[in-house]
Amino acid sequence: MTAWLLDPGVLHLNHGSFGATPAAVLEAQQRIQERIELNPTQFFLEGEYQERLDQTRRAVARFVGADEAGLVFVTNATAGVNGVLRSLEPSLKPGDEILVTDHEYNACANAAVVSASRAGAVVTTAQVPFPLEHRRDVVDAVLAAVTDRTRVLLIDAVTSATGLVLPVAELAAQLEPDVRVLVDAAHAPGMIDFDVARLGASYVTANCHKWMCSAKGAAFLWVRPDRRDDVYPAVISHGYNGGWPSAGGHLHAQFDWTGTHDPSAWLTIPDALAAVEAMHPDGWPGVRSAIRELCLRGRDVLIEALSIEPSAPADMIGAIASVPLPSAAHSGSAIFDPLMGALRDRHGIEVPVFTWPAPPDRVLRISAHLYNQPGDYDRLAEALAAELGA
Ligand SMILES: Cc1ncc(COP(=O)(O)O)c(C=O)c1O
Repeated sequence: MTAWLLDPGVLHLNHGSFGATPAAVLEAQQRIQERIELNPTQFFLEGEYQERLDQTRRAVARFVGADEAGLVFVTNATAGVNGVLRSLEPSLKPGDEILVTDHEYNACANAAVVSASRAGAVVTTAQVPFPLEHRRDVVDAVLAAVTDRTRVLLIDAVTSATGLVLPVAELAAQLEPDVRVLVDAAHAPGMIDFDVARLGASYVTANCHKWMCSAKGAAFLWVRPDRRDDVYPAVISHGYNGGWPSAGGHLHAQFDWTGTHDPSAWLTIPDALAAVEAMHPDGWPGVRSAIRELCLRGRDVLIEALSIEPSAPADMIGAIASVPLPSAAHSGSAIFDPLMGALRDRHGIEVPVFTWPAPPDRVLRISAHLYNQPGDYDRLAEALAAELGA
Protein backbone atom coordinates (compact mmCIF):
# COMPACT_ATOMS: atom_id res chain seq x y z
CA MET A 1 0.00 0.00 0.00
CA THR A 2 2.92 2.34 0.66
CA ALA A 3 3.76 2.15 -3.05
CA TRP A 4 0.65 4.31 -3.55
CA LEU A 5 -0.47 7.52 -1.89
CA LEU A 6 -4.09 6.41 -1.62
CA ASP A 7 -5.80 7.27 1.67
CA PRO A 8 -5.67 4.04 3.73
CA GLY A 9 -8.91 5.09 5.45
CA VAL A 10 -10.85 4.74 2.20
CA LEU A 11 -11.60 1.61 0.19
CA HIS A 12 -10.65 2.59 -3.36
CA LEU A 13 -12.66 0.71 -5.96
CA ASN A 14 -12.50 3.37 -8.65
CA HIS A 15 -9.17 3.13 -10.41
CA GLY A 16 -11.17 3.46 -13.62
CA SER A 17 -12.13 7.10 -13.30
CA PHE A 18 -8.82 8.84 -12.65
CA GLY A 19 -6.24 6.09 -12.14
CA ALA A 20 -3.79 6.22 -9.25
CA THR A 21 -0.11 7.02 -9.54
CA PRO A 22 2.61 5.17 -7.61
CA ALA A 23 4.61 7.30 -5.19
CA ALA A 24 7.83 6.58 -7.12
CA VAL A 25 6.29 8.04 -10.29
CA LEU A 26 5.24 11.22 -8.51
CA GLU A 27 8.77 11.57 -7.15
CA ALA A 28 10.09 11.22 -10.71
CA GLN A 29 7.62 13.87 -11.81
CA GLN A 30 8.89 16.26 -9.18
CA ARG A 31 12.48 15.71 -10.34
CA ILE A 32 11.42 16.53 -13.91
CA GLN A 33 9.65 19.69 -12.75
CA GLU A 34 12.72 20.78 -10.81
CA ARG A 35 14.87 20.15 -13.88
CA ILE A 36 12.56 22.34 -15.97
CA GLU A 37 12.56 25.12 -13.40
CA LEU A 38 16.36 25.28 -13.29
CA ASN A 39 16.20 26.92 -16.70
CA PRO A 40 12.84 26.76 -18.53
CA THR A 41 14.16 28.55 -21.60
CA GLN A 42 16.99 26.12 -22.02
CA PHE A 43 14.76 23.09 -21.30
CA PHE A 44 12.13 23.97 -23.88
CA LEU A 45 14.18 25.69 -26.57
CA GLU A 46 17.52 23.92 -26.64
CA GLY A 47 16.47 20.40 -27.38
CA GLU A 48 16.03 18.73 -23.98
CA TYR A 49 12.24 18.86 -24.07
CA GLN A 50 12.11 17.38 -27.58
CA GLU A 51 14.69 14.74 -26.75
CA ARG A 52 12.84 13.59 -23.62
CA LEU A 53 9.53 13.68 -25.44
CA ASP A 54 10.95 11.49 -28.21
CA GLN A 55 12.33 9.02 -25.66
CA THR A 56 8.92 8.86 -24.00
CA ARG A 57 7.26 8.39 -27.37
CA ARG A 58 9.57 5.45 -28.08
CA ALA A 59 8.63 3.79 -24.78
CA VAL A 60 4.88 4.28 -25.33
CA ALA A 61 5.05 3.15 -28.96
CA ARG A 62 6.74 -0.07 -27.87
CA PHE A 63 4.21 -0.64 -25.09
CA VAL A 64 1.14 -0.20 -27.29
CA GLY A 65 2.38 -1.64 -30.60
CA ALA A 66 2.47 1.66 -32.48
CA ASP A 67 5.05 3.29 -34.73
CA GLU A 68 6.64 6.48 -33.45
CA ALA A 69 5.78 8.66 -36.47
CA GLY A 70 2.08 8.11 -35.84
CA LEU A 71 2.11 8.68 -32.10
CA VAL A 72 1.73 12.03 -30.34
CA PHE A 73 0.89 13.11 -26.82
CA VAL A 74 -2.26 14.84 -25.63
CA THR A 75 -3.33 15.66 -22.09
CA ASN A 76 -6.18 13.18 -22.00
CA ALA A 77 -8.37 10.98 -24.20
CA THR A 78 -10.97 13.73 -24.37
CA ALA A 79 -8.41 15.97 -26.10
CA GLY A 80 -7.48 13.14 -28.47
CA VAL A 81 -11.11 12.60 -29.49
CA ASN A 82 -11.68 16.35 -29.89
CA GLY A 83 -8.57 16.76 -32.06
CA VAL A 84 -9.61 13.99 -34.45
CA LEU A 85 -13.25 15.08 -34.69
CA ARG A 86 -12.33 18.71 -35.32
CA SER A 87 -9.88 17.57 -37.99
CA LEU A 88 -12.65 15.59 -39.67
CA GLU A 89 -15.14 18.48 -39.78
CA PRO A 90 -14.02 19.81 -43.20
CA SER A 91 -14.57 16.37 -44.75
CA LEU A 92 -18.17 16.10 -43.48
CA LYS A 93 -21.10 17.20 -45.63
CA PRO A 94 -24.61 18.14 -44.52
CA GLY A 95 -26.53 14.98 -43.73
CA ASP A 96 -23.41 12.90 -43.07
CA GLU A 97 -23.48 10.84 -39.90
CA ILE A 98 -21.09 10.35 -37.00
CA LEU A 99 -22.09 7.11 -35.32
CA VAL A 100 -21.62 6.53 -31.58
CA THR A 101 -23.06 3.93 -29.24
CA ASP A 102 -25.33 4.61 -26.30
CA HIS A 103 -22.43 3.40 -24.08
CA GLU A 104 -20.20 6.24 -25.30
CA TYR A 105 -18.46 8.38 -22.68
CA ASN A 106 -20.52 11.54 -22.24
CA ALA A 107 -17.72 14.07 -22.84
CA CYS A 108 -16.68 12.42 -26.11
CA ALA A 109 -20.27 12.01 -27.29
CA ASN A 110 -20.60 15.77 -26.70
CA ALA A 111 -17.54 16.40 -28.87
CA ALA A 112 -19.21 14.41 -31.65
CA VAL A 113 -22.39 16.50 -31.32
CA VAL A 114 -20.46 19.77 -31.61
CA SER A 115 -18.33 18.64 -34.56
CA ALA A 116 -21.37 17.28 -36.35
CA SER A 117 -23.31 20.49 -35.84
CA ARG A 118 -20.44 22.63 -37.16
CA ALA A 119 -20.38 20.54 -40.32
CA GLY A 120 -24.16 20.25 -40.74
CA ALA A 121 -23.81 16.53 -40.04
CA VAL A 122 -25.72 14.54 -37.42
CA VAL A 123 -24.85 12.12 -34.64
CA THR A 124 -26.61 8.78 -34.76
CA THR A 125 -26.60 6.30 -31.90
CA ALA A 126 -26.38 2.51 -31.99
CA GLN A 127 -28.34 0.95 -29.15
CA VAL A 128 -26.11 -1.67 -27.59
CA PRO A 129 -27.98 -3.91 -25.14
CA PHE A 130 -26.93 -4.05 -21.51
CA PRO A 131 -26.91 -6.64 -20.02
CA LEU A 132 -25.74 -8.60 -23.05
CA GLU A 133 -24.77 -12.18 -23.77
CA HIS A 134 -22.15 -12.08 -26.47
CA ARG A 135 -19.69 -9.69 -28.09
CA ARG A 136 -21.62 -10.36 -31.31
CA ASP A 137 -24.49 -8.35 -29.81
CA VAL A 138 -22.26 -5.27 -30.02
CA VAL A 139 -21.16 -5.93 -33.60
CA ASP A 140 -24.77 -6.52 -34.67
CA ALA A 141 -26.04 -3.37 -32.92
CA VAL A 142 -23.36 -1.15 -34.43
CA LEU A 143 -23.62 -2.57 -37.95
CA ALA A 144 -27.40 -2.22 -37.83
CA ALA A 145 -26.96 1.51 -37.23
CA VAL A 146 -24.53 2.08 -40.12
CA THR A 147 -26.07 3.76 -43.17
CA ASP A 148 -24.65 4.97 -46.47
CA ARG A 149 -24.24 8.39 -44.81
CA THR A 150 -22.11 7.09 -41.93
CA ARG A 151 -18.65 8.63 -42.22
CA VAL A 152 -17.18 8.12 -38.76
CA LEU A 153 -17.65 5.59 -35.97
CA LEU A 154 -16.55 6.76 -32.52
CA ILE A 155 -16.33 3.68 -30.32
CA ASP A 156 -14.84 2.83 -26.92
CA ALA A 157 -12.33 0.00 -26.55
CA VAL A 158 -13.59 -0.36 -22.97
CA THR A 159 -16.83 1.39 -22.11
CA SER A 160 -17.02 3.71 -19.15
CA ALA A 161 -20.23 3.16 -17.17
CA THR A 162 -20.81 -0.41 -18.34
CA GLY A 163 -17.17 -1.56 -18.20
CA LEU A 164 -17.30 -3.68 -21.37
CA VAL A 165 -14.36 -4.61 -23.58
CA LEU A 166 -15.83 -3.99 -27.04
CA PRO A 167 -14.88 -5.86 -30.24
CA VAL A 168 -13.39 -2.79 -31.90
CA ALA A 169 -11.01 -4.67 -34.21
CA GLU A 170 -13.91 -6.72 -35.54
CA LEU A 171 -15.88 -3.55 -36.22
CA ALA A 172 -12.94 -1.78 -37.86
CA ALA A 173 -12.39 -4.81 -40.10
CA GLN A 174 -15.99 -4.58 -41.31
CA LEU A 175 -16.23 -0.79 -41.65
CA GLU A 176 -12.87 0.67 -42.67
CA PRO A 177 -12.04 2.34 -45.06
CA ASP A 178 -15.58 3.58 -45.93
CA VAL A 179 -16.27 4.51 -42.33
CA ARG A 180 -13.36 5.99 -40.42
CA VAL A 181 -13.11 4.34 -37.03
CA LEU A 182 -11.98 6.47 -34.09
CA VAL A 183 -11.26 4.27 -31.08
CA ASP A 184 -11.53 5.90 -27.68
CA ALA A 185 -9.28 3.49 -25.82
CA ALA A 186 -9.17 5.60 -22.64
CA HIS A 187 -8.98 2.50 -20.41
CA ALA A 188 -7.21 0.02 -22.63
CA PRO A 189 -3.40 0.30 -22.33
CA GLY A 190 -2.24 -1.39 -19.15
CA MET A 191 -5.64 -3.01 -18.59
CA ILE A 192 -6.07 -5.32 -21.57
CA ASP A 193 -3.79 -6.89 -24.14
CA PHE A 194 -3.78 -4.01 -26.56
CA ASP A 195 -1.98 -3.45 -29.84
CA VAL A 196 -2.82 -0.18 -31.53
CA ALA A 197 -1.80 -0.99 -35.09
CA ARG A 198 -3.60 -4.35 -35.06
CA LEU A 199 -6.96 -2.72 -34.28
CA GLY A 200 -7.20 -1.63 -37.92
CA ALA A 201 -8.76 1.71 -36.98
CA SER A 202 -7.88 5.09 -38.48
CA TYR A 203 -7.39 6.78 -35.10
CA VAL A 204 -6.76 5.51 -31.59
CA THR A 205 -6.52 7.68 -28.49
CA ALA A 206 -5.87 6.39 -24.99
CA ASN A 207 -4.96 7.52 -21.51
CA CYS A 208 -1.66 6.78 -19.84
CA HIS A 209 -2.92 8.16 -16.51
CA LYS A 210 -5.47 5.40 -15.99
CA TRP A 211 -4.09 1.85 -16.21
CA MET A 212 -0.50 2.72 -17.14
CA CYS A 213 -0.43 4.71 -13.88
CA SER A 214 1.49 7.76 -15.12
CA ALA A 215 0.97 11.15 -13.51
CA LYS A 216 -2.31 12.80 -14.53
CA GLY A 217 -2.57 14.68 -17.81
CA ALA A 218 -0.90 12.05 -20.00
CA ALA A 219 -2.50 10.39 -23.01
CA PHE A 220 -1.64 9.64 -26.62
CA LEU A 221 -3.18 9.73 -30.04
CA TRP A 222 -2.08 7.37 -32.79
CA VAL A 223 -3.07 7.90 -36.41
CA ARG A 224 -2.81 5.34 -39.21
CA PRO A 225 -0.27 6.31 -41.91
CA ASP A 226 -2.86 7.07 -44.61
CA ARG A 227 -4.76 9.50 -42.31
CA ARG A 228 -1.81 11.29 -40.74
CA ASP A 229 -1.54 14.41 -42.85
CA ASP A 230 -5.07 15.62 -42.09
CA VAL A 231 -4.98 15.48 -38.30
CA TYR A 232 -4.42 18.51 -36.07
CA PRO A 233 -4.74 19.03 -32.32
CA ALA A 234 -7.78 20.84 -30.93
CA VAL A 235 -5.37 23.68 -30.09
CA ILE A 236 -3.41 25.04 -33.07
CA SER A 237 0.06 26.33 -32.31
CA HIS A 238 3.44 27.02 -33.91
CA GLY A 239 3.63 23.76 -35.83
CA TYR A 240 0.91 24.79 -38.28
CA ASN A 241 3.24 27.00 -40.35
CA GLY A 242 6.47 25.22 -39.53
CA GLY A 243 7.17 27.30 -36.43
CA TRP A 244 7.89 24.15 -34.40
CA PRO A 245 10.51 22.44 -36.54
CA SER A 246 10.18 18.69 -36.24
CA ALA A 247 12.19 15.83 -37.63
CA GLY A 248 9.23 13.55 -36.91
CA GLY A 249 6.83 14.62 -39.67
CA HIS A 250 3.45 16.34 -39.78
CA LEU A 251 1.86 14.90 -36.66
CA HIS A 252 4.83 15.57 -34.41
CA ALA A 253 5.08 19.14 -35.71
CA GLN A 254 1.41 19.79 -34.91
CA PHE A 255 1.17 18.09 -31.52
CA ASP A 256 4.60 18.29 -29.89
CA TRP A 257 4.01 21.90 -28.97
CA THR A 258 0.47 23.18 -28.35
CA GLY A 259 1.47 26.08 -26.09
CA THR A 260 3.23 26.24 -22.74
CA HIS A 261 2.20 23.57 -20.29
CA ASP A 262 3.77 21.26 -17.74
CA PRO A 263 5.00 18.24 -19.75
CA SER A 264 6.13 16.34 -16.66
CA ALA A 265 3.09 14.02 -16.68
CA TRP A 266 4.00 12.86 -20.20
CA LEU A 267 7.64 12.47 -19.26
CA THR A 268 6.78 10.21 -16.27
CA ILE A 269 5.31 7.55 -18.52
CA PRO A 270 8.54 5.50 -18.73
CA ASP A 271 8.82 5.70 -14.93
CA ALA A 272 5.24 4.47 -14.57
CA LEU A 273 5.80 1.59 -16.99
CA ALA A 274 8.87 0.51 -15.00
CA ALA A 275 7.26 1.01 -11.57
CA VAL A 276 4.16 -1.07 -12.31
CA GLU A 277 6.10 -3.73 -14.21
CA ALA A 278 8.25 -4.23 -11.08
CA MET A 279 5.16 -4.82 -8.94
CA HIS A 280 4.50 -8.27 -10.42
CA PRO A 281 6.96 -11.13 -10.95
CA ASP A 282 5.58 -11.59 -14.49
CA GLY A 283 5.74 -7.89 -15.32
CA TRP A 284 2.92 -6.25 -17.26
CA PRO A 285 1.28 -9.46 -18.53
CA GLY A 286 1.19 -10.60 -14.90
CA VAL A 287 -0.30 -7.27 -13.78
CA ARG A 288 -3.01 -7.43 -16.44
CA SER A 289 -4.03 -10.96 -15.62
CA ALA A 290 -3.91 -10.39 -11.83
CA ILE A 291 -6.16 -7.34 -11.93
CA ARG A 292 -8.57 -9.00 -14.34
CA GLU A 293 -8.87 -12.07 -12.14
CA LEU A 294 -9.44 -9.85 -9.12
CA CYS A 295 -12.11 -7.91 -10.99
CA LEU A 296 -13.89 -11.08 -12.10
CA ARG A 297 -13.81 -12.38 -8.55
CA GLY A 298 -15.20 -9.07 -7.29
CA ARG A 299 -17.93 -9.23 -9.90
CA ASP A 300 -18.84 -12.77 -8.78
CA VAL A 301 -19.17 -11.58 -5.18
CA LEU A 302 -21.58 -8.83 -6.26
CA ILE A 303 -23.54 -11.11 -8.57
CA GLU A 304 -24.11 -13.51 -5.72
CA ALA A 305 -24.91 -10.81 -3.18
CA LEU A 306 -27.42 -9.15 -5.53
CA SER A 307 -28.83 -12.47 -6.81
CA ILE A 308 -28.38 -11.44 -10.44
CA GLU A 309 -26.96 -12.93 -13.63
CA PRO A 310 -23.65 -11.67 -15.13
CA SER A 311 -24.29 -8.60 -17.30
CA ALA A 312 -21.72 -9.66 -19.89
CA PRO A 313 -19.59 -12.70 -20.72
CA ALA A 314 -16.21 -12.92 -18.98
CA ASP A 315 -14.37 -12.36 -22.28
CA MET A 316 -15.78 -8.81 -22.31
CA ILE A 317 -14.37 -7.95 -18.90
CA GLY A 318 -10.99 -6.39 -18.16
CA ALA A 319 -10.26 -4.75 -14.81
CA ILE A 320 -13.55 -2.86 -14.50
CA ALA A 321 -16.98 -4.48 -14.36
CA SER A 322 -20.46 -3.12 -13.89
CA VAL A 323 -23.49 -4.67 -12.26
CA PRO A 324 -27.04 -3.41 -12.59
CA LEU A 325 -28.69 -2.25 -9.36
CA PRO A 326 -32.37 -2.18 -8.49
CA SER A 327 -34.01 1.03 -9.75
CA ALA A 328 -34.41 4.00 -7.45
CA ALA A 329 -36.05 7.39 -7.83
CA HIS A 330 -32.86 9.41 -8.14
CA SER A 331 -32.21 13.03 -7.55
CA GLY A 332 -28.48 12.95 -8.38
CA SER A 333 -26.62 14.42 -11.33
CA ALA A 334 -27.26 13.23 -14.86
CA ILE A 335 -24.20 11.01 -14.53
CA PHE A 336 -23.94 9.80 -10.91
CA ASP A 337 -26.54 8.22 -8.64
CA PRO A 338 -26.79 9.44 -4.98
CA LEU A 339 -25.95 5.90 -3.79
CA MET A 340 -22.35 6.74 -4.71
CA GLY A 341 -22.29 9.44 -2.02
CA ALA A 342 -23.91 7.12 0.53
CA LEU A 343 -21.27 4.44 -0.04
CA ARG A 344 -18.55 7.05 0.39
CA ASP A 345 -20.00 8.85 3.41
CA ARG A 346 -21.44 5.94 5.38
CA HIS A 347 -19.07 3.12 4.40
CA GLY A 348 -15.81 4.76 3.33
CA ILE A 349 -16.01 3.16 -0.11
CA GLU A 350 -15.16 5.06 -3.26
CA VAL A 351 -16.99 3.36 -6.11
CA PRO A 352 -18.97 4.96 -8.96
CA VAL A 353 -22.69 4.41 -9.38
CA PHE A 354 -23.81 5.69 -12.76
CA THR A 355 -27.31 6.55 -13.82
CA TRP A 356 -28.18 4.66 -16.98
CA PRO A 357 -30.68 6.01 -19.50
CA ALA A 358 -32.54 2.72 -20.00
CA PRO A 359 -33.41 -0.12 -17.63
CA PRO A 360 -31.58 -1.11 -15.40
CA ASP A 361 -31.55 2.68 -14.60
CA ARG A 362 -28.33 2.58 -12.59
CA VAL A 363 -25.14 0.55 -12.62
CA LEU A 364 -22.33 0.17 -10.11
CA ARG A 365 -18.82 -0.22 -11.52
CA ILE A 366 -15.97 -1.86 -9.67
CA SER A 367 -12.31 -1.53 -10.55
CA ALA A 368 -9.40 -3.75 -9.58
CA HIS A 369 -5.77 -2.75 -9.33
CA LEU A 370 -2.75 -4.14 -7.50
CA TYR A 371 -3.61 -2.19 -4.35
CA ASN A 372 -6.97 -4.00 -4.11
CA GLN A 373 -7.61 -7.25 -2.24
CA PRO A 374 -10.26 -9.94 -2.74
CA GLY A 375 -11.91 -8.97 0.57
CA ASP A 376 -12.54 -5.42 -0.74
CA TYR A 377 -15.47 -6.67 -2.77
CA ASP A 378 -16.97 -8.56 0.17
CA ARG A 379 -16.91 -5.28 2.08
CA LEU A 380 -18.64 -3.56 -0.81
CA ALA A 381 -21.28 -6.32 -0.97
CA GLU A 382 -22.00 -5.83 2.76
CA ALA A 383 -22.32 -2.06 2.33
CA LEU A 384 -24.65 -2.55 -0.63
CA ALA A 385 -26.80 -4.94 1.39
CA ALA A 386 -27.08 -2.29 4.09
CA GLU A 387 -27.94 0.48 1.61
CA LEU A 388 -30.31 -1.48 -0.60
CA GLY A 389 -31.93 -3.37 2.26
CA ALA A 390 -31.14 -6.66 0.53
C1 LIG B 1 -14.39 5.62 -22.44
C2 LIG B 1 -13.79 6.88 -21.89
N1 LIG B 1 -13.41 7.83 -22.73
C3 LIG B 1 -12.86 8.98 -22.31
C4 LIG B 1 -12.66 9.19 -20.97
C5 LIG B 1 -12.10 10.51 -20.56
O1 LIG B 1 -10.85 10.42 -19.99
P1 LIG B 1 -10.14 11.79 -19.71
O2 LIG B 1 -10.96 12.52 -18.70
O3 LIG B 1 -8.80 11.40 -19.18
O4 LIG B 1 -10.07 12.52 -21.00
C6 LIG B 1 -13.05 8.24 -20.04
C7 LIG B 1 -12.85 8.47 -18.60
O5 LIG B 1 -13.20 7.71 -17.75
C8 LIG B 1 -13.64 7.05 -20.52
O6 LIG B 1 -14.06 6.10 -19.67
